[in-house]
Amino acid sequence: MSPKVRTVYRCTECGAEHARWGGRCDGCGEWNTLGEEISTPAAKPTIPPRGAVTLRLADIAGSESERWRTGIAEFDFVLGGGIVPGSMVLVGGEPGIGKSTLLLQVAGRLRAAGHAVLYVSGEESPLQVKLRADRLGDAGDVALLSETNLETVLATATSAELLVIDSIQTVFTADLEGAPGNVGQVRECAARLMRFAKETGTAVIVVGHVTKGGGIAGPKTLEHIVDTVLYFEGEQTLDHRVLRATKNRFGSVDEIGVFRMTQAGLMTVPNPSELFLGDRLSTASGSAVTALIEGTRPVLLEIQALAAKAGFGTPQRVATGYDGRRLALLLAVLDKRAGLSFATLDVFVNVVGGLRVAEPAGDLAIVAALASSVYDRPLPPDALFIGEVGLGGEVRPISQVERRLAEAAKMGMRRAFLAERAVPSRSVPGISAVGVPSIEALFARLFQ
Ligand code: TYD
Ligand code: MG
Repeated sequence: MSPKVRTVYRCTECGAEHARWGGRCDGCGEWNTLGEEISTPAAKPTIPPRGAVTLRLADIAGSESERWRTGIAEFDFVLGGGIVPGSMVLVGGEPGIGKSTLLLQVAGRLRAAGHAVLYVSGEESPLQVKLRADRLGDAGDVALLSETNLETVLATATSAELLVIDSIQTVFTADLEGAPGNVGQVRECAARLMRFAKETGTAVIVVGHVTKGGGIAGPKTLEHIVDTVLYFEGEQTLDHRVLRATKNRFGSVDEIGVFRMTQAGLMTVPNPSELFLGDRLSTASGSAVTALIEGTRPVLLEIQALAAKAGFGTPQRVATGYDGRRLALLLAVLDKRAGLSFATLDVFVNVVGGLRVAEPAGDLAIVAALASSVYDRPLPPDALFIGEVGLGGEVRPISQVERRLAEAAKMGMRRAFLAERAVPSRSVPGISAVGVPSIEALFARLFQ
């Protein structure tokens, strides 16, 4: 007798199962996320389970040092030193950002290094992939499979060392009902690919589409299943892209790699600070430079602020790459502690280059850029601003000061304004650290 089939409703965000459809998921509270799914209960095992054989840890083959370097430096770096055999990596990003380009380049490099590579495209025709490969130049030898049936894919991939699935939303397994891309399909296909990776030692890289909210479409559990999650981001209009690890079982997270999209594909950018400061007009008011720690590396960024007389109505506050509420807080601090009123001014803050400033260390640069714009006086072009700003207008210390200063010195900065307590005991060559207790003290130094 075949097992009874029933219909369940699964949340696309958290994967929670519901017996009935509803507008809101009880599991995570999201609206309109329940999708219909056919669930076939597993057949009851007829043989009682017996104990399994255990392994001695020292006897397990393989070591951490076994990684495949693609030679695409920033890609290897973000992964923690290269692709780990038997691992599964999810690459998310908006359409058109360059996921297929990056992975075809990765596939091409590994193929050229003698690895067996299978690139499965369910999104594009073989001709489309070939045309891209022609532009990239080094992907001609990659084996391509235009297929969406997962069973066929896995049967074809038995001898592959690297399997690329572009994308997880286009593959399906015949064992489940429902169209490709539906939650159950995505989850089941990902779980099978993961099992395949572990059993065969094949490294699997899957592309995942990103929803409007910024998450990877499909259940959140998709991110839990895989070993590593990389996000590929950037503005379509700019030609550089940032690859970021948000989960990594084989390396550190929040590591970034920076690329430039060119006619011949993605090129790594060895010095991101240079790129982010590249177009800076240091004679303009409202521009300040800060140093953030992205993963394990310091990166210099320009912050631009513009305070302009508002038209009628409530003045605007627009922040790009920065939290709007944090901006409102800093504006209130500037008003109360430094006597700078923004009540009749529109305020625009922009983090140049499409990165996000989430670290409080960026506060001081935001505040300095805002004051510079209000006074219409440019900041010293060789000055760096690093520090958290408290509600009292005090400048607070931040971590890893020496590393930020060293990067700034490398980029031609000569002075760094920071909290008095953060001034390093040993000076960093090429740059002097200037301790400021409060934003008032900072403005006194800068504008008087
Ligand atoms: P693609 O890799 O198809 O993006 P995704 O898979 O994330 O949807 O890249 C799409 C864009 O990249 C497309 O607009 C064209 C551009 N591109 C280049 O500028 N140079 C190149 O060499 C290639 C292959 C693509
Ligand atoms: Mg694509």
